[in-house]
Amino acid sequence: MLEQATLTQLEEWMAAHDMGGHWQLDPEALYTGAPLTAVQPHVWRWAEVWEAVQGAGALVPLDVAERRSVRLLNPGLARQGRRFTAQTMQLSVTIVKPGEAARAHRHTPAAYRFIVQGSGGYTTVEGQQCRMEAGDLILTPAWTWHNHANDGDEPIVWLDGLDHPLVTLLQLNMFEPYPADAQPIERGSDEVAALYGTARPAVAPGTVQPDYYHYRWRDTYPALRALAARGEFASAYDGIRLEYRNPQTGGPTLPTMSHALQWLRPGESTRAHRHLSTTIYHVVRGRGHTRIGDEEFEWSQGDSFVVPIWQPHAHTIRAPGEDAILFSVDDAPVARAFGLYREEAC
Ligand SMILES: [Fe+2]
Ligand SMILES: [Fe+2]
Repeated sequence: MLEQATLTQLEEWMAAHDMGGHWQLDPEALYTGAPLTAVQPHVWRWAEVWEAVQGAGALVPLDVAERRSVRLLNPGLARQGRRFTAQTMQLSVTIVKPGEAARAHRHTPAAYRFIVQGSGGYTTVEGQQCRMEAGDLILTPAWTWHNHANDGDEPIVWLDGLDHPLVTLLQLNMFEPYPADAQPIERGSDEVAALYGTARPAVAPGTVQPDYYHYRWRDTYPALRALAARGEFASAYDGIRLEYRNPQTGGPTLPTMSHALQWLRPGESTRAHRHLSTTIYHVVRGRGHTRIGDEEFEWSQGDSFVVPIWQPHAHTIRAPGEDAILFSVDDAPVARAFGLYREEAC
């Protein structure tokens, strides 16, 4: 009967019966030559983030909130009602004051923390106590038990990153509280790090090396310095770049996210490139500029900024004699897992 109807009547009938035509889709979104993303390039200024973090520290009790984090929200995603830093990754900033503890739990989103300031606290991941120092990277992979405590005498501030937006999109979110406030401590990072040195244990049947959760600034910074001093392996697009690796696999730190530390030398001006991954940067030290698309963004210590997928970007250090160190996280492992990853010079 619909054969005699008009196209509008057909479409209305289909809509009423939970169907739609491929011809009704937006061809610009469907046959696009470049990924369409709602994520917009953006810089979160440390002065403003710090205001919010201090406010949260004073006003949000940790025994009520599961975690006390200030979430960085991308204005482009927010316009679509999605409150994340990027389409796959969330970045937040957490403060834990002396004497405070954040209770143990686990969840399907994987997380990491990068310590911005303070020492004297720790995160326990699957029984491993990771004592925090500024610049340390600590992983809590999917479904690993973790809890935090500050037994020092100064507040600890860290970046809290998760693949929560991606896991939410996949409708894979699960959360479980630990039966006690804290896990028992079974070993420390020093014991685990020793097992991943130049001499490694000959694995006996039935035993495995513990997973690697704690990348310490005291190891990564000298490696970055040594690389910079030798001037070898400099990338035209990234300067001196060190990727954190999973020592068991040689692959990225997490199945969904990869972390890096990069040194931009005085006067450095990198070439522009773009890739099928999104990167969130945090300025550990120094100041500079990043051109993203047609726009120039200035940044300095403590700022965080996002480079959306496939946007051409290049970094410049203008101040004479100054250098900069950037910590970054990207979602390239996701595109690589699907065989979709690409990058090219612009
Ligand atoms: Fe958590
Ligand atoms: Fe890049």
